[in-house]
Amino acid sequence: MRDKSCASELRRRPIQACLYIVVLFSASTESLTRNAGLTTWSSRRGSSLDIDRCDGLQLQRHSRCEDDRSVKEVWSPSQENHESRPQSSPTEGITLTVLNQRTAALIFTKVFPLGYYWAHYADLQWHLDRVAPGRILVLTVAVSGTVGLRQAAHQLARLGSLFALHLTPMAHWTWVFVKGGRTISETVILQGLAQHQAHLILPLSDLPTPTTPSNQTLQQQRWHYCHRHAAMGGLCDEHTPDPLPPPSPPTLPHQSALADVPVVVTAGARHHYLYHTLNTLLTAPGAQRNNVLVVLGDAPQPTTQLLRLINVNFTKVPVHGEGNLKLFRYYRSVFQLVARTFPDAPAVIFLDEDVEVSPDFFSFMSQTLWLLREDPTLYCINGFSATGFFGVAHDNSRILRAKSQVEWGYALSSKFIKEAVMRWPQNNSGDNIVHYDHWLYKHASQGRECAFPEVSRTLHYGIGVNSNAFTTERYFLSMPIVKSWNIKIHNVVGLRLPQWQQNFIHNISHAIPVIGNPCQPSFVPSTNTSKNYVFYYNMTKKSDGKPDYKNFFFIASCLGAWALSDQGQHDTVLTVRLSMMATLYMVGAPFSPYAHLRPPHVIPWDVDLISDEQEDILVNRIRELELGKYHIKNLNITHNTLMNLMSIESSTT
Ligand SMILES: *[C@@H]1O[C@H](CO)[C@@H](O)[C@H](O)[C@H]1NC(C)=O
Ligand SMILES: *[C@@H]1O[C@H](CO)[C@@H](O)[C@H](O)[C@H]1NC(C)=O
Ligand SMILES: *[C@@H]1O[C@H](CO)[C@@H](O)[C@H](O)[C@H]1NC(C)=O
Ligand SMILES: *[C@@H]1O[C@H](CO)[C@@H](O)[C@H](O)[C@H]1NC(C)=O
Ligand SMILES: *[C@@H]1O[C@H](CO)[C@@H](O)[C@H](O)[C@H]1NC(C)=O
Ligand SMILES: *[C@@H]1O[C@H](CO)[C@@H](O)[C@H](O)[C@H]1NC(C)=O
Repeated sequence: MRDKSCASELRRRPIQACLYIVVLFSASTESLTRNAGLTTWSSRRGSSLDIDRCDGLQLQRHSRCEDDRSVKEVWSPSQENHESRPQSSPTEGITLTVLNQRTAALIFTKVFPLGYYWAHYADLQWHLDRVAPGRILVLTVAVSGTVGLRQAAHQLARLGSLFALHLTPMAHWTWVFVKGGRTISETVILQGLAQHQAHLILPLSDLPTPTTPSNQTLQQQRWHYCHRHAAMGGLCDEHTPDPLPPPSPPTLPHQSALADVPVVVTAGARHHYLYHTLNTLLTAPGAQRNNVLVVLGDAPQPTTQLLRLINVNFTKVPVHGEGNLKLFRYYRSVFQLVARTFPDAPAVIFLDEDVEVSPDFFSFMSQTLWLLREDPTLYCINGFSATGFFGVAHDNSRILRAKSQVEWGYALSSKFIKEAVMRWPQNNSGDNIVHYDHWLYKHASQGRECAFPEVSRTLHYGIGVNSNAFTTERYFLSMPIVKSWNIKIHNVVGLRLPQWQQNFIHNISHAIPVIGNPCQPSFVPSTNTSKNYVFYYNMTKKSDGKPDYKNFFFIASCLGAWALSDQGQHDTVLTVRLSMMATLYMVGAPFSPYAHLRPPHVIPWDVDLISDEQEDILVNRIRELELGKYHIKNLNITHNTLMNLMSIESSTT
């Protein structure tokens, strides 16, 4: 299993690295009819993979064909400037490479920046889940990539890795295995700076590509696509393939509300995400394939071939520039195209390529779209919930209105789209607004609000290079999404502004005032009957006329609600659904127009006036919520602990 002299060497010369190697499968060249040679490296400078055949397949990013060998390298360009290059793909972390089991051709590669702690492990898990059984996977650490493995380490262990649960933060590791099958080789250096290399013979599969009699042409096209692409989920799963074409989903009671409503999916090069997104979209009850139009910015062949294969309309808009400016212009072009193509649509639904929809998505839209026409104080209907975070979203039938950006799966009226196009500048320079949705909010919404469900009908699952990984994990990864469908939304009529205001005033003025420290667990008493509570806190106007969000930040953070912007609030009142039974209205006084409902004996809470003891409670609560589960694994793993673990594992199996 390892170089016998290594442990004693290490005692004498602690700098030296120890290499542990597991080869569970080795085959001599003679005993296999077909095989390929593979070499993989893991080191402090990067990682690489070298396969001794190219097979004329399209090569993926970072790879090239040299003397009929396919070579892929992920080298860190230079340590000092990686912070200043947020737009480019990461070059440090764990590289996942997938090889075609029949040809050894490289058909997927991505680097997950798992040298960072937050969020990206979820993206690795998502991709691992979507690699079909039978594929050959190669995982290697480039520079550093184990600190952020977290839950993904358990998944890797379930897939058969011996070392995944025991990798130290600076470990270098390579693992080559068949998904759902055996390890071909696994190597690790726990400590020390040496690079290492695993060279092995890959056994190739002789199983024929599946075919089914139902629709030969289409199925042949599918397996042809899958020959070249991996991590496509059920599309390329040979054992339980997704039906193609997918069966039409059931229609809805309010289907006619969706009749002429185009669903515009914005997409580009991330065809793995796009397939999953379209699959959830097209199978959601109420979906109408003919209404779906994918608008591509970048339109590489894997994306256009996929769209032809699954028979979804697409078009392309020109894109220029780089990074956020490119995206800003891309969405401008999309809106221009939509305004031109669907001038008379009652509403248009927009969805990004990395947003999956709930089965209730169209049902929700079909019951609410009419509001865009009837209520001029609303500019969007979001399928995503601006307040629907883990622990504060319970009622699938409830709908709210508040200040909000368009968020992940939303509908706009054609009138608003035309209005936005008229104002939309070519460049986003000037006011520090880099994202189109933020620009729409600041410059096109004109103070109007959005309607959204208490529990989301969409999930933004994609994790981009530019994502703020901490915020993604703290707030978004754990958001609940509605899993059932045909949910009747309660009192949609009551969302129109006059009724809403009336209900708000009624609820707040009849609510039970709570006082005390919002960071204390017993802050709001638990209840078995439906009750409304209200909490007044000090919110004053700053010199620029805007409200001071200092107190808001502490309170919303402690309650597990969104605390990082004013979004989700109606007239600076945040509705926090503490449980199915308890609703808390957080009212900023005197700033909010609802602050006059405060009974005179209730003093608005102010963080500056609390005792040191109360402040400790507050600080500890926020630290617990933000860093509570922060835990770097395997800091103390040494070669001895690893050897003990491995000998226990092998003696019990
Ligand atoms: C079979 O696939 C072809 C090509 O995509 C398509 O035109 C045809 O309608 C399909 N036939 C059936 C019966 O699904
Ligand atoms: C999709 O294509 C079909 C057939 O050409 C067409 O009838 C339909 O209007 C298109 N849908 C959209 C949203 O462009
Ligand atoms: C937009 O920015 C580009 C450079 O990125 C510049 O050449 C162009 O003149 C700008 N256009 C406007 C309308 O400001
Ligand atoms: C007012 O309270 C009732 C009952 O708790 C609830 O159903 C309704 O959604 C609330 N209305 C508003 C505008 O918050
Ligand atoms: C709520 O109901 C449960 C079970 O019915 C009971 O154990 C609990 O004491 C009740 N809580 C309150 C606050 O009434
Ligand atoms: C509210 O905050 C302002 C500014 O910090 C302060 O001047 C004022 O005294 C506070 N009011 C109360 C009731 O705490």
